[in-house]
Amino acid sequence: MTGTTRSAAPETPETRETWSHNTGFILAAIGSAVGLGNIWRFPGVAYESGGGAFLIPYLVALLTAGIPILFLDYAIGHRYRAAAPLAYRRMARPAEALGWFQIMLSFVISVYYAAVVAWSLSYFVYAFDLRWGEDTLGFFVGDYLQVGDPVISTSVVPAVAIPLVLVWVAVLLIIAAGVANGVQRVNIIFIPLLVVAFTGLVVRSLTLPGAMDGLNALFTPDWSALTDLNVWIAAYAQIFFSLSIAFGIMVTYASYQRRKANMTSSGLVVAFANSSFEILAGIGVFATLGFFAHQQQVEVAELEGLTGPILSFVTFPAVISEMPGGNIFGVVFFASLVLAGFTSIISILLGVAASVQEKFGLGRRASAILVSVLCGTLSISLFSTTSGLLALDTVDQFANNVGIVVSAIVMTVVVVWVLRRGEVLRRHLNAVSTFKVGRVWVALIGILVPGFLVVMLGQKLVSLVSDGYEDLPAWYLAVFGWGMLGFVVVAALVLTAIPWKGRDDLSFRAWPELEEEQR
Ligand code: PHE
Repeated sequence: MTGTTRSAAPETPETRETWSHNTGFILAAIGSAVGLGNIWRFPGVAYESGGGAFLIPYLVALLTAGIPILFLDYAIGHRYRAAAPLAYRRMARPAEALGWFQIMLSFVISVYYAAVVAWSLSYFVYAFDLRWGEDTLGFFVGDYLQVGDPVISTSVVPAVAIPLVLVWVAVLLIIAAGVANGVQRVNIIFIPLLVVAFTGLVVRSLTLPGAMDGLNALFTPDWSALTDLNVWIAAYAQIFFSLSIAFGIMVTYASYQRRKANMTSSGLVVAFANSSFEILAGIGVFATLGFFAHQQQVEVAELEGLTGPILSFVTFPAVISEMPGGNIFGVVFFASLVLAGFTSIISILLGVAASVQEKFGLGRRASAILVSVLCGTLSISLFSTTSGLLALDTVDQFANNVGIVVSAIVMTVVVVWVLRRGEVLRRHLNAVSTFKVGRVWVALIGILVPGFLVVMLGQKLVSLVSDGYEDLPAWYLAVFGWGMLGFVVVAALVLTAIPWKGRDDLSFRAWPELEEEQR
């Protein structure tokens, strides 16, 4: 088979669209990284996993796996100048399947992630008049989501469906507008806005009575947590999700960088910005919870619902209702969730749309429409019906604790051991960047990361197989957990088997040329 050149897409590696400047890329990459994971996932995970002591596994995970894999994603995307499937295909044809596996996982995540952004949009509106009333749990589950008894239901809830449609239409328009005119522009406006709004929120939260008790609860270290393997697993999982790595998304973003672009230094900026935002969110959330405990005259430790959707949509509304000037706080809080979540969902969709565009030789607009309509329809039919909450939690658990770990293991093993590209990619990064990576980088991604992740995955699989998840019936896990993962694998294989219709340019010459590649 020879590389076909017939194609509707006019793009070539030379004429590929680019970010207008490095700042555009950095802001977009921060936009992807900073998301719901920072605001509702991190504070709760840190609190449950040893508080202040969690910062140690967290930093270790950031330095040993987070930043190294971020560099790996960047190196692959920048060197092979394509979205994940084609980038891997250019390394070695069968590796295309790995690209699709990552993109299909992103596809699954986009379906529920958009739902949470849509809920935030509704709550942004509700915050103006504190519409959730006294019983915030009843409001969220009953009045808003209308979670019903049947575990699978088909009755659409308009209050959820309408913002969800809005989110998908906005995503579609931005992806169709392109990298520089769409994605970059949104991030240049949204990210500074998010930082200002969220910093204001944190400052306000620190002035509330009880704020310090909240911070003590979050940061008081429980050193015994360090001997618990689950705490380490939680730290690695948090870093992967939060930095958007091993999803094929950062490969795609990096592929739109100019040929001469400082990749590693940008990566360091993105990684530290993301973690700073995460810590900031931890401070803001726990200061606010400290106030809540103070109002109810209980200890922070006695509060419940400190993580996930319940934190944002049940606990926070309750706190906001008790706060002087709560509606302003609420409006800014939910606006922050929308800004943070929206810039992440567009990164996911860009990754999916660019992959489809390249494979099927479609134009940018056509692929944006195809992919958004497909994901949007799925998302609306799954998550604006009364069974959404449970499905979301299950899919999230399996995608982020199993799917992404498998992705990272396969990716590092294939790139470093099977295709032996570790050194080429290291030299690529060093040829274009000012911050040089040493051989230790190859050792980290080749030995330490896959080694640790295999242990972690084994532990997780054992617990999911023997204990199930959240007492859900086996058939339910078989569909939304294992079934979803099976679907991702099968879809990746099918997509790889479909003959390549766009330009695949297997004669593609990577730049800068490194002699190892011509061995
Ligand atoms: N990093 C995002 C967050 O923290 C989520 C995300 C995951 C975005 C995967 C892109 C890809 O919320």
